[in-house]
Amino acid sequence: MRHLMNPLDFSVEELDSLFDLAEDMMKDPAKYADVCHGKKLATCFYEPSTRTRLSFEAAMMNLGGNVLGFSSADSSSAAKGESVSDTIRVISCYADICAMRHPKEGAPMVAAGKSLIPVINAGDGGHQHPTQTLTDLLTIRSLKGRLGSFTIGLCGDLKFGRTVHSLIEALCRYKDINFIFISPEELRVPDYVTEMLKSRNISFKEVISLEEVMPELDLLYMTRVQRERFFNEEDYIRLKDFYILTKEKMELAKEDMLVLHPLPRVNEISVEIDSDPRAAYFKQANYGVYVRMALIYTLLELGKKEA
Ligand code: CP
Repeated sequence: MRHLMNPLDFSVEELDSLFDLAEDMMKDPAKYADVCHGKKLATCFYEPSTRTRLSFEAAMMNLGGNVLGFSSADSSSAAKGESVSDTIRVISCYADICAMRHPKEGAPMVAAGKSLIPVINAGDGGHQHPTQTLTDLLTIRSLKGRLGSFTIGLCGDLKFGRTVHSLIEALCRYKDINFIFISPEELRVPDYVTEMLKSRNISFKEVISLEEVMPELDLLYMTRVQRERFFNEEDYIRLKDFYILTKEKMELAKEDMLVLHPLPRVNEISVEIDSDPRAAYFKQANYGVYVRMALIYTLLELGKKEA
């Protein structure tokens, strides 16, 4: 039995196969419409979500399966003090696979250790968000035609942003990636990330000004300053609108640069950008359904049964 805790749990070759499968599912959804008949996905979300939870549920329904779960800690027995370990033992009796989001880093890993069914980390605190990374990689591969040989700017909250941490680790396995980290001093990417890049001779620089580096970028990955990760409301208010991507800033960018964002957005991308052909964030959300379909199919070993 296999879980997904970190994007690195899959080799580059396994990811290629997963993305090929996701693209096939996108091209020919009817072929997969019944492959999960009789199977159930549990979505155990201890933290709010729109995209991750609902795209997992849509993915399971697209495969002909059923879904059950909870969307907040308050509506589960966690509110009565039940541990994640006990919850997953029980969920293992009700479902065939589980997607879990938790505010505590490592909670899905603890669950996986006790689980009798595959567990997918759907975001744990400021740590990892592997299925967002799979979504990001599939989006880049599909829209750019390659994973590698580009300059990517990651902008916003690089300190607490789990999507950023997962994506950097995943992209390090591809060739000729040049990272530009764009953040205020207080939200710089953690030292363990820059140390890892240095030790592997991977090119990166850290800047504060988005405008300064805009012409260099092939991809711009915008992120939200996350109110829920701040200890201090004053700091959040001071930093929340540090970056706002506007039409004027987009004029500095390459004609084929793509703007990605894991969403939700607050103010960091002006809505006037949504109609720019380089805005790829809503397409990215759509890719998320197909990559989660491919992931469920793979972790339930449905391909093996057919072979
Ligand atoms: N991208 C993402 O994780 O969105 P949600 O928080 O809405 O799931």
